[in-house]
Amino acid sequence: MWGGRYESGPAEIMEEINASIDFDKRLAPQDIRGSLAHAAMLGASGILPAADVATIREGLERVRAEIEGGALPWQRSLEDIHMHVESRLKDLVGPTAGRLHTARSRNDQVATDMKLWVRDTIDSLDGQIADLMLAMAEGARTHAGLVMPGFTHLQSAQPVTFGHHLLAYVGMLARDRGRFADARARLNECPLGAAALAGTSFPIDRQATAAALGFDRPTANSLDSVADRDFALETLAAASICAIHLSRFAEEIVLWTTPQFDFVRLSDAFTTGSSIMPQKRNPDAAELVRGKAGRVVGALQGLLMVLKGLPLAYGKDMQEDKEGTFDALQTLSLCLAATAGMVRDMVPNAETMRRSAGAGYATATDLADWLVRALALPFRDAHHATGQIVGLASGRGIGLEELSLADMQGVEPRITAEVFAVLGVDASVRSRQSYGGTAPDNVARQAQAWLDRLQGPARDAV
Ligand code: ARG
Repeated sequence: MWGGRYESGPAEIMEEINASIDFDKRLAPQDIRGSLAHAAMLGASGILPAADVATIREGLERVRAEIEGGALPWQRSLEDIHMHVESRLKDLVGPTAGRLHTARSRNDQVATDMKLWVRDTIDSLDGQIADLMLAMAEGARTHAGLVMPGFTHLQSAQPVTFGHHLLAYVGMLARDRGRFADARARLNECPLGAAALAGTSFPIDRQATAAALGFDRPTANSLDSVADRDFALETLAAASICAIHLSRFAEEIVLWTTPQFDFVRLSDAFTTGSSIMPQKRNPDAAELVRGKAGRVVGALQGLLMVLKGLPLAYGKDMQEDKEGTFDALQTLSLCLAATAGMVRDMVPNAETMRRSAGAGYATATDLADWLVRALALPFRDAHHATGQIVGLASGRGIGLEELSLADMQGVEPRITAEVFAVLGVDASVRSRQSYGGTAPDNVARQAQAWLDRLQGPARDAV
């Protein structure tokens, strides 16, 4: 394609390091879309005669069909997807194919292809995140009042409900969607027509190609258009944060499915057995979601390093944007699907959760709050008195509600029998009525609000 002044071919190792076809072949649909838009614009702008444009368009459609049918052989000697498409077009339609590359370069072509691919992928990830949110919000509605321990420092802190816990992730995932949507809005400018780096002397219509490819407008600076990959970085950053959210949830599933916690059960569909220990049910899917977050974040780090110190405009280094971006977004997609599967599969063990919620003096704060409310103690004094009462109970190895009134009055004489009403875990969660708190009514209302938004007409904007 560019061999005019070349006398011999590349060294074998040059071909190996240079070729990107092994991974950029997946850009074929985007590449052909971009070429069709470019050719149509060349015709409409009077740069190519209509007959040539028709020949090129028909040829490109045939190339597309061949690629879809797996009939086009990939060859390293043709470097990348752009050269494969053009070379096959030439086989099919002859020298007219050579006119397609008028007023464009592989530099603006590849930037356009990548943006189209990333944009398509953001759209499908968005749908998957929404589906996971839906699965979690449904779980939250069902389990709005299921009491479980809430932790800080992984120590029992205060009782919460399982529904409340699930809705915490729904909130995180909603922000993940927002980050992808932000990245999508910023990337939606079309680089096509920036040509190699400086623009072109042909009277092209960049508004037309931008519109044909669904972009909001053309990019404003030709150097920037071919030199930056911040759209990929930003998408990978959004993907990394989302993968980290999934990884935290996966870790909780790993903990919850241990016999020690025994909070939830995953079916055979999402666990594996051990070849040596017959009793085991390993939460492999959760472990892999946890582990794969490393790959996603790694891709972000990798691309940041590729771009660091790279002078404007295009450098072949930028070909390194692809494998990491493809792998990371595909990995995230898999993790989202596996997580949604696990959420729909898992069955909470209400009894263990409830029992565990009461362990570790998890209602001590309720006692302190009662001392403030009923006896008007300053919170610090109430905290101190509660600490002494907890000490008393733990010294005897019993729960707070198992102490006698006399025991408590030994610490604070004004305590009355009414205190026992706040020492149970159900009363504890019921009392957390503050906005965003874990009271089952709150949780049920919020779960329903999420479901309405996710299933309503405006679900794409949630
Ligand atoms: N395969 C290349 C890439 O992915 C396409 C652009 C090549 N441009 C060039 N001037 N060699 O970046």
